Amino acid sequence: MDTVLIIGRSHPALGSKLAAALGVEAVRCLIKEFPDGEIRIEVKQDMVDRDACVLQTTAAPTGRNLLELLLLADACRRRGARSITAIIPYFAYARQDRRISGEEPIGARLMTDLLATRCDRIIAVDLHNAAIEGFASVPLVHLSAVPLLAEAFRKHRTDRQVLVAPDAGAVKLVQAYARMLKLPVAFVEKERQSATEVAVRAVTGDVKERAVVLVDDMISTGGTMIAAAEALLEGGASRDISIITSHCLLVGSAAAGLARLPVKRIITTDSVVLQKAAELPLEVCTLAGLLADTLREMS
Ligand code: R5P
Repeated sequence: MDTVLIIGRSHPALGSKLAAALGVEAVRCLIKEFPDGEIRIEVKQDMVDRDACVLQTTAAPTGRNLLELLLLADACRRRGARSITAIIPYFAYARQDRRISGEEPIGARLMTDLLATRCDRIIAVDLHNAAIEGFASVPLVHLSAVPLLAEAFRKHRTDRQVLVAPDAGAVKLVQAYARMLKLPVAFVEKERQSATEVAVRAVTGDVKERAVVLVDDMISTGGTMIAAAEALLEGGASRDISIITSHCLLVGSAAAGLARLPVKRIITTDSVVLQKAAELPLEVCTLAGLLADTLREMS
């Protein structure tokens, strides 16, 4: 392979797994802060005619991780790399994919524009909105962890389960899981009141005495999942809740809130460094194999 792997500071554990899956050693880099807080980068290897792949997830601190990715890409270019691929397992700002009040920026578009200034290709996993691919002026390879997660869930599957979309945005996702797991579906009607507060308007579908399997692309503050789970329990669902989600950010009190519920398992990926993992019954599927296979196919 003519590929060289550069690992940013956002997710060293996934970086090591990806290097092992590719059978390569990551390029030695110095990544530190200058005393004034600026990021200082030195890429310690020449890359003339090599394809550089920079792994950087963009969970918090999002701004720092994004800039570090761009600086690494710039350094690789200056060391002679013939192409640069940004591997972004969790793609931040994806939820800012449109204007709602007309007063906001479109953060997802800005992300793709910034990345396109230094990268020739972007690899992302389970974007909040697949249409973001269309924003990018460089090829964006949109991978799905859904088959991986559905497969990991299969050993827990029973006929008493119902898959549930905790909001309208997860309807297509729940249908995809339903096709793979051959389970019925139900829907929660959510109304977001603020970045941290959500209310449930209604539950549609048969959940009575059923074990629920909530699916969503991400858990951030946990507000969506917690409100949906509480509404489902009130609606007569059994105290046996599973969650399947691609990106488990667990911001703020999300883990504590979820731990108060009868959640038997959370099946997720290592797209971000998992916080408070000990508090929750997390079952983690690594993305290393999926990313390595994709890089091999592209090289
Ligand atoms: C929103 O549409 C997303 O799919 C998630 O439902 C949401 O972003 C999760 O955020 P939180 O955990 O803060 O409710």
